[in-house]
Amino acid sequence: MNTRIRHDSRKFNFIANDITNYCNARCVFCPNDWQSPPTSHNMNMELFKKLLQCIPLGYQNSFVFSCQYEPTLHPEFYDYLEMIPDEFKDNCYCFTSNFVKHISDDNLMRIARCNIQYINISLETFDNTLYYDLCAIKNSHLYDNLSRLSGILASVKNAPRLKFTTMILKDNQDELIELYKTAQERYHPFEHEFRTPVFLPPNDKQREDIRGMLLSKTELSALKDTLLSLGDNIFVYDAMDIEYFEYVTNPKTKPSPRKNAHDKYIIFIRPDGSVCSYNEKPVCADLASIDNPAAFFQNVLIEIQTEDALENRIEKYDSSANPYDGRVTISLDDIVIFDKKFLYLTGFCFLPDLSPRNADKILCVSWGSGKKFYKLHGVQRPDSGDAGFWTTINVSDDLAPSIGQTFSFTIILADAYAVELGVMSVINDDAYQFISANTLLQTPQRPLPIMSRIKGRIMKGLSREKPWR
Ligand SMILES: C[S@@+](CC[C@H](N)C(=O)[O-])C[C@H]1O[C@@H](n2cnc3c(N)ncnc32)[C@H](O)[C@@H]1O
Ligand code: SF4
Repeated sequence: MNTRIRHDSRKFNFIANDITNYCNARCVFCPNDWQSPPTSHNMNMELFKKLLQCIPLGYQNSFVFSCQYEPTLHPEFYDYLEMIPDEFKDNCYCFTSNFVKHISDDNLMRIARCNIQYINISLETFDNTLYYDLCAIKNSHLYDNLSRLSGILASVKNAPRLKFTTMILKDNQDELIELYKTAQERYHPFEHEFRTPVFLPPNDKQREDIRGMLLSKTELSALKDTLLSLGDNIFVYDAMDIEYFEYVTNPKTKPSPRKNAHDKYIIFIRPDGSVCSYNEKPVCADLASIDNPAAFFQNVLIEIQTEDALENRIEKYDSSANPYDGRVTISLDDIVIFDKKFLYLTGFCFLPDLSPRNADKILCVSWGSGKKFYKLHGVQRPDSGDAGFWTTINVSDDLAPSIGQTFSFTIILADAYAVELGVMSVINDDAYQFISANTLLQTPQRPLPIMSRIKGRIMKGLSREKPWR
């Protein structure tokens, strides 16, 4: 069977932006450090124009216009919204706001006509006293703004959809069912998300306050079931997996991005133009000093893929023998060549008698007398016992393919099984062909000497102090 190889250009999974770092509220659960806030900035027009050039560098739904602070406080907020061109709408996912500041009908109309898919509004309670306790806001225009907005959105064709986000806290838990129903009746949102605090505030006092507001796992589980039964536009951000729960409830935990949030294809753009990647807090770039942001970030994407490919490469393979029996199924779902340089493989394997997540999976690529090993990353699919896998290979540097050459791909599973995935042949500089084989080469009962002789270690030490710049 021939597997089609797609050619594509790698993009960012998420571009999170903020046009300001002000806020008119002080929510107890807010992850921002309001005791020592950042130097105040509103993104200027010149920077915003550069930012616009970055939007197409993300995938569909990848751009968040405003993320961590309060965008409605920016004096040119509505002008900026109007500057987003029609053709960017698929990419522009949402902006998030507390909607506390009064918004005129004219400006609500400008929101309704902007090229953003969702308006995400924080709605914690309808009880003014509790609202003050939670968010330190006395004279909020939230409900009045919302009433007028929902009417205006309904009157505009292809207007952004309205979404609510509500924090799940001990303090508002008894109100959440009514809150959902009332919000539906009054404002007709498309979606309502309920979530537990995901990020910890940076200062000790606030962290302690939040810990006192968290529901227990049992309480959360019951509440989640009730909420989900209310309607099919409810989404509960189930951040209470074991690892997360321990992380948030342990007083020794220091604030940091979520432990498992490991995605190199994410960037944060701050209102002063500084850019950082999710995993590497130091500033990686300064938008203000970049003349051609599209070209710059295109190179960043190549750099990230190069790093990925290096990390995935294994000089030699060493895994303590872990033989197991059973049927092995491996399939290759997608083969993409990004930017004519990086081969990205995704697929899944099924190992009946071993947690596929724990089994080492190594990709061995052989051609002529050459051979290279790559780490296959794995993740257990929640819906089944299968394990998805993926890896990035630098085709032009690691494999240096030449026309007519063929590469054989073999997956080695926990030192016990070897399955030939298939053979890729290089037709010309741009075209490759992959013929799937899925042939079992080695089993624990029928060991292949060449595989069991492979020893070594995983390549280490590739982290960089200062990326990109
Ligand atoms: C940080 S706020 C910034 C935008 C705006 N100021 C607002 O509150 O809507 C972005 C979203 O994060 C949610 N949020 C606040 N604190 C959070 C926390 N500790 N963990 C996860 N989400 C949080 C808010 O409810 C809001 O929907
Ligand atoms: S409104 Fe948003 S940014 Fe402001 S304090 Fe509350 S959570 Fe934080």
